[in-house]
Amino acid sequence: MSAQEAVADARAERLRRLNTHLAAAKPSATYRMIDRVAERRASGARVISLCAGEPDFDTPAHVREAAIAAIRAGHTRYTQVAGLHALREAVAAKFKRENGLDVGWRSTIVCTGGKQVLFNALAATLNAGDEVVIPAPYWVSYPEMVQLCGARPITVACGEEVGFKLTPKALADAIGPRTRWVILNSPSNPTGAVYSPDELAALARVLLNHPHVLVMSDDIYEHLIFDGVCFHTIAQVEPRLASRTLTMNGVSKAYAMTGWRIGYATGPRWLLEAMEKLQGQQTSGACSIAQHAALAALAGPQDFVAATRAVFQRRRDEMLGMLSECTGLRCPAPSGAFYAFVSCEGLIGRTTSQGLRLVDDEAVANALLDEAGVAVMSGSAFGLGPFLRIAYALDSAALREACRAIRSFCESLTGGQHADGA
Ligand SMILES: Cc1ncc(COP(=O)(O)O)c(C=O)c1O
Repeated sequence: MSAQEAVADARAERLRRLNTHLAAAKPSATYRMIDRVAERRASGARVISLCAGEPDFDTPAHVREAAIAAIRAGHTRYTQVAGLHALREAVAAKFKRENGLDVGWRSTIVCTGGKQVLFNALAATLNAGDEVVIPAPYWVSYPEMVQLCGARPITVACGEEVGFKLTPKALADAIGPRTRWVILNSPSNPTGAVYSPDELAALARVLLNHPHVLVMSDDIYEHLIFDGVCFHTIAQVEPRLASRTLTMNGVSKAYAMTGWRIGYATGPRWLLEAMEKLQGQQTSGACSIAQHAALAALAGPQDFVAATRAVFQRRRDEMLGMLSECTGLRCPAPSGAFYAFVSCEGLIGRTTSQGLRLVDDEAVANALLDEAGVAVMSGSAFGLGPFLRIAYALDSAALREACRAIRSFCESLTGGQHADGA
C-alpha cells in the first residue's frame, strides 16, 4: 500500500466511525477561510479579512451592563428551556412592533443563536427522504443542516438576472410531494438581496397551493436594509401562512452580539413545542446571562440599530464605488446585509503575477488571500460562481486599503479572459 493509499484508508476508517450524515457534511466554508487567514497571519503575513459575517462594532454599552448586572444579581442558573419569560415577552413585543405579528409570548422560543433555531426546527421535522427547497445562492449552513438531518436540500438557481431571488415559477417547479420546508432569507447572505412585499406575496400565492410545505423565514439581517426600504416578512404579508411559518431572527447582527449566541423565533405552537423538547435534551436552553443581555437589547433603546444601518449604508456606497474601479469585477448593488456579491467572471482564465491561472472563483479567492493579502469568500461556497462575497464589516480605512489591494491585484493579471480552463 502506498503512503497515499494508507492516508486515504485511515481517513475512510475515521469516517466509518461517524454518523453517516455527519461524515458526508462539509465543514463551514467560512470557518475554513477564517482558519486560512489565521495561518497566513501566524506566518507573518498581513491580511485584511473581508470574509467574516459579523458586525465590527462593540455590543451597545447598556446591553453589556445588563449582562454584568445579571451576574451580580445571581441570574446564573438554568432558565426555562424555551427562554426566560421576560425575554419571550420582549420577543413577542418585538414581533408585534416591528413585523406586525401579533403573537403571545407562548408562541416564541429562544435558542442558542439563530443557527440553533434553524437546526432545531429542521431536526424536529425532517425525516429521511424529505426535501427542503433552498434558493441559491444560499447561506452555507442551510444545505449542510438539511443533510445532517438526513433530508435532501433542493437548491434552486437564482442568478443575477432575477436579482438573486426566488421567482414564483421556480418555487412552484421545485415543490414536490416530499417538500417539507422552503427557506427564505431576506436580506440575503450572501447577496444582500431583499424581497419586496409584492415579491413575497407572489411567493405566498404559490405556497398557499401547497399546504404540506412549511416556510422558514430567516430574518436575521432585518435591520440592515438600505435606501429607506422597509423590511417585510412573509407571515406579515400573507397571514394565512402564519400557521406554518417559522419566523426566525436573533440579536447577532442587529445589536453586534454574535458571541452572545441568542436567536429567537415565532411560529406554530406544535413546532415550537417540538423544538423545545429537542432543546431540553440538548442545551437545556440558552445562557442565562446572554438572555438578560438580549432582553436589554430588544426592550431597550433602539438607536444603535439605526446608527449602524447608516454606517453600513455609507460603507456599501464607498465599497461599490471602489470595486467599480477594479478591472474584471462587476458589483450589483446590494439592498441589505453587509455583503457585496461581486461577479469575478472577468478575471477567470487570467494569470496572477505568481503564475497562478484563475480557473474559477475559488482560485480567485485563494489568490487574493495569498497574493494581495485580502480574504474574501468564493461565491461557489454559497452555491453560485463565479462570484466573490465581500463583507464590508470593517472600518472605512481598512476597506479602502483592501479595495486598493484588490485593484492592484486585478491590474497585475495577465493573459486572456474566459479561457476554456484547459
Ligand atoms: C443568513 C444567516 N442566518 C442565520 C445566521 C445565524 O446567526 P446566529 O447563529 O449568530 O444568530 C447567520 C449567521 O451568519 C446568517 O448569515
